[in-house]
Amino acid sequence: MNAPAVRFYDAHPGPADLRAEVLGGLDAEVRAIPPKFFYDERGSALFDRICDLPEYYQTRTEIGILRRALPDIARLVGPESVLIELGSGASRKVRLLLEELRPIGYVGVDISKEFLLSATRRLARDYPWLDVHAACVDFSTGLAIPSCSDAARKVAFFPGSSIGNFDPDDALTLLRDIGELVGVGGQLLIGVDLKKPVEILNAAYNDAAGVTAEFNRNLLWRIRDELDSDIDPDSFDHYAFYNPPHNRIEMHLVSRVAQVVSVEDRRFRFERGDAIHTENSYKYGVADFTALAVRGGFAPQAVWTDDAQLFSVHLLLQRG
Ligand code: AVJ
Repeated sequence: MNAPAVRFYDAHPGPADLRAEVLGGLDAEVRAIPPKFFYDERGSALFDRICDLPEYYQTRTEIGILRRALPDIARLVGPESVLIELGSGASRKVRLLLEELRPIGYVGVDISKEFLLSATRRLARDYPWLDVHAACVDFSTGLAIPSCSDAARKVAFFPGSSIGNFDPDDALTLLRDIGELVGVGGQLLIGVDLKKPVEILNAAYNDAAGVTAEFNRNLLWRIRDELDSDIDPDSFDHYAFYNPPHNRIEMHLVSRVAQVVSVEDRRFRFERGDAIHTENSYKYGVADFTALAVRGGFAPQAVWTDDAQLFSVHLLLQRG
């Protein structure tokens, strides 16, 4: 039997331009490359392994919160919606929702194309009653997703605290974009990592097995493999720490040696200890995030946390 088809939308010229953003990022006074470039097939698989690490409380905590909240979510969302998952990755968490909510359609949105396709194909196979779409889109630059421009009631699902990758101003813009995507009366179910003691945060981004370090360095492997570059990923150290005044984890790659790295036709000098900033992961109190969502055009409908107050899940209504 043929597996049901997944309708696929690929943003052109490409979800994001690695070459332009790497060259621009290495040219800047404070060197930085955006975290969305972690997620090629290998990076998505490494992130999947992070989710299972003992130090990385986020994934299992969010799943626990969702499980407990499912009856409430089903009541507040209702049946026959179209569920749009942003940053769908391996699409594990959404299975809980699909089974409880019974939406008519599902749209997986992710920057990692091969990963997105295999994950949505698995969903289409496992839920033959569901109309499955996949959109390979870099949603940090807007949310044009043609496969869901029809009339159904829309619910966006943005799990995993990926909103934390955006500076507060950009997070606000993204919330407004999501508001436009779901329309007035549409909803957003979003996972947000909470502020907490620094030891817990520092451990979560410095796991003993070194998977997060390899995930961070995957950015350099992509530069080496996809661009014309002699960069040696192992000549950079993983460096991650919580920055309390900014309420964020920062990840950097720090050069272990003085070196000159060539990328395409450019050469970049690193002193020993020079860094490339690769990720921010902002943490919010429940009240902070609610205030941001309200500024983004949403009304709070419900919020759930775990008993240890590690993580939160907000249900928000687009109020126009
Ligand atoms: C996918 C952005 C939520 O910030 O915790 C995990 C990515 N980086 N370990 C996070 C990540 C290092 C993750 N988000």
